Amino acid sequence: MKILVINGPNLNLLGIREPDIYGRGTYAELCALIGGWADELEMNCELFQSNHEGAIVDAIGQAYGVYDGILINPAAYTHTSIAILDALKAVGLPTAEVHISDISVREEFRRFSYVSLYAFVTIAGKGFDGYRLGLEALKERIRQK
Ligand code: DQA
Repeated sequence: MKILVINGPNLNLLGIREPDIYGRGTYAELCALIGGWADELEMNCELFQSNHEGAIVDAIGQAYGVYDGILINPAAYTHTSIAILDALKAVGLPTAEVHISDISVREEFRRFSYVSLYAFVTIAGKGFDGYRLGLEALKERIRQK
């Protein structure tokens, strides 16, 4: 089971970025955790991070026929990107959305997610553990197909 894990803008700055909200763990530490969880769950995960909307759209488009599912934290593009939503709908892969923070209790502009209009599950406010929950949800979903 091959999963593409996509992290959007500024998640490369985890560790130094607003640690009260996102914690002190770095992006490299998050990647190592995801790698360990993937091994435990017997999933094959590839990690992709970009600060550029078009690069994320391209990565989603190229996932067609290569991956069985997508785990995505679109970061700020969550709240703005119809292009990312359209790319996800275009490839039609099972998609789990994850947010480190609880976007439902932050600023008003974070409450709406375009990606949620397609993702079969949205996990928010569980810190880095949300990625593990997302992988588990994907595994279950892909198995049922
Ligand atoms: C985020 C929440 C978004 O609102 C924010 O723009 C991010 C990170 C999260 O993981 O909590 O960059 O997706």
